[in-house]
Amino acid sequence: MDRKDAIRTLKERINIVDLVRRYVDLKRNGPRWMAPCPFHQETKPSFSVDEDKGMFYCFGCQASGDIFDFYARINGLEFKEAMEQLAAENGISLTAWQGGGRNAAQVQQAKSARQQMLRMYELAASHFSQNLLEAQGEECRHYITKRGLAPEIIERFGIGWAQREWRALAGVLHRAGCNTSMAVEAGLLGKSEKSNQPYDRFRGRMIFPIKSLSNQIIAFGGRIIADEDEAKYINSADSPIYKKGDHLYGLAQARRGIAARGKALLTEGYMDVLTLHQYGYDNAVGVLGTALTPEQIKRLSGFTSLLVLLFDGDRAGRKAALRSSEMLLTRGLGCKVVLMPDGEDIDSLLRTQGAAAFEALQQKAPEGLQFCVDVLKELAPKEGVEWARNFLGKLEIPELFSPYATRLAQYLGLSEEVLRQGVAELKERTKNSTGAKPSAKARVNLRDREIMMYAVRYPQRLEDLRRMGADMVLTSGVARTLWEKIEEFGPEEVLYHLDEREKNFWHKCRAATAPPLDSGEKELGALMHYLDNFYSEAQKSSLSAALRENARTGDFTADLEYLRVLQKTLERRDGQS
Ligand code: GTP
Ligand code: MN
Repeated sequence: MDRKDAIRTLKERINIVDLVRRYVDLKRNGPRWMAPCPFHQETKPSFSVDEDKGMFYCFGCQASGDIFDFYARINGLEFKEAMEQLAAENGISLTAWQGGGRNAAQVQQAKSARQQMLRMYELAASHFSQNLLEAQGEECRHYITKRGLAPEIIERFGIGWAQREWRALAGVLHRAGCNTSMAVEAGLLGKSEKSNQPYDRFRGRMIFPIKSLSNQIIAFGGRIIADEDEAKYINSADSPIYKKGDHLYGLAQARRGIAARGKALLTEGYMDVLTLHQYGYDNAVGVLGTALTPEQIKRLSGFTSLLVLLFDGDRAGRKAALRSSEMLLTRGLGCKVVLMPDGEDIDSLLRTQGAAAFEALQQKAPEGLQFCVDVLKELAPKEGVEWARNFLGKLEIPELFSPYATRLAQYLGLSEEVLRQGVAELKERTKNSTGAKPSAKARVNLRDREIMMYAVRYPQRLEDLRRMGADMVLTSGVARTLWEKIEEFGPEEVLYHLDEREKNFWHKCRAATAPPLDSGEKELGALMHYLDNFYSEAQKSSLSAALRENARTGDFTADLEYLRVLQKTLERRDGQS
C-alpha cells in the first residue's frame, strides 16, 4: 500500500464528524454540522463540517482541511504523526507504506517518541489502578473513603495509587520493553546520579491521570495522603506529549456535560473537580496548578463560550479571578465569578453545606465585566480608567469593542468618547514601541508571510495575487516553493507534496494568530495597499541603496534575485497601468 492508499483507507474508515466531536460540540444545521471554531476565538459558531466531503471549514479564520489536518492541528502534531496516531487508533497497520518489509523491531523503533510515551503512560495508569485494588493499596483506599470519594468517580477518573517503593513502575516498564531514558524524558522515572539506576518519580501518592481530548493519558498528578514532609502535589513535567498550561484536568470527562449544559465550571484543584462531578456537576474542569492560559481557553471554547469561575474569596483569589475574566472577555467568551467563602474550596463547601449552598453562590455571582469593575473599584480605585482602556485595547474580536465600551463607560461613569480616545493613543504607543524599525530581513519575511497568508487562505484568488505582482516579490525559498506547489498541485492536493518546513510555513499562514478578517475582499484590498506602499518606496530609493540595505543580510545571490524580481515587477505593473 502506498501513501495515497493509506490516506484513502483512513479517510474511508474515519468519519470526520465522529472525530471532530471529540473536540467540539457539533450541532446539525441542514446538510452540515456547525460548532464554535476550536482554532480561533469567536462569539458565533462559524466552524462547519461537511460529512460527505470529509472536510471542515471555518468561515471565521478560514481554517480548513480533512481529518488529518484537523487532528494534527488540534493536537499540535505533524501531518505524519497525525496519520500514524489515527491509523493506530483505528487498528490500521501502516507498516506496508512505511517502508516495505521491515521487521517488527525496526517498525517499533520508527514509531515516534510520542507514541512510545503514550504507551508508557497507559501502562503506568493501569499499574497504578491495579495497585489501588491490591493489598498495598489499603492506605490509599482508606484515604479515599476519608475524603468521601465515590467508587464511580474513582473509576471514571481512573484514580490510582503509586506504592511506596523505588522501582515498582520501573520494573513494569522494563518488563514491557520500554526504553528507560524515554521513560525519564516522559517524566515517569527519575535517574539517580550516583548509581545511574532509574527510580519511580511517583511514590506513595494518590494518582490523578490527566487525559488529552483523544482520551489518551498524557500526564499524572500525585498527592501525598499522609502527614509527610513533601510537596502536597507533584505533576508530570513537560514532555513531548504534555505541556503545562495546554490542558485542563477533567476535560475529557466533562466535555459532554459542558456541551449539554452550555457552560463549564472552572476550578483550581484536582479534588475540587472530582467532588464537583460527584455532586452532579459533570461540567467541571481544573486549571492544573497554573493561571488560566490562552491555550486552555481555546480548548474550552470548542465546547462552550460561557465559564463559571470558582476562586478563593481572598485578595489573591480576587486578583486571579480578575486576570482570568479579562482573558476570557477579551477573547469573546463570557464568564461569571463565584468567590468561595473564607477558608473553603468548592470541595469542602459541597461536603459541608451541600449543593444548595453552591447554587445560592452561583445565583448571586456577578457577570465577568461587572466583577472586574467591582474588584478594581475596591483594590485600585484610581486605576479603573487605565484598566478599561487597556482592556478595550486588548479585545481580540473587533465587534466586541462597541458593546464593551458602552458598558464600561456606564460602569465607570465616564463618557464613551473619553474611553475610546485613550484606546487609540494606547494602541499607537504599543505599536511604536514593539514594531520599531524592523530589520531589512524581518521586513522581507513579513512581506512573504502577508502574501502567503492570503494565498493559502484564498487559493481561488491566486490569479488576483499574481496580477498584483505578489508572487514576484516573494524572496524566501520556502514561500516561493509553497507558491509554486499551490499552483502546480492545487490547494487540496498540495498538502501531500510539502516537506516539513513548507508544511510548517503553510500552517503558520493559516494560524489562529492571524487577524480573523471575515472577507477575502477586505483582505485583498489591504494586501494591495501594502504592496503598493512597498512598490512606491522601492521606486523612491535608488537600486544601489536597495542593494546596500540588502547586502547586510549577507546573501549576495538573494540580493541579486531580489533586485531582479523587483525590476520585473515594476516593469509589469507599469505596463499594466
Ligand atoms: P486537597 O488538599 O487535596 O483538597 O487539594 P486542594 O486542591 O484543595 O489543594 P490546594 O488548595 O492546596 O491547591 C490547589 C491546587 O494547587 C492543587 O489541586 C494542585 O493542582 C496545586 N497544588 C497545591 N499544592 C501543590 C504543590 O505542593 N505542588 C504543586 N505542583 N501543585 C500544588
Ligand atoms: Mn481542597
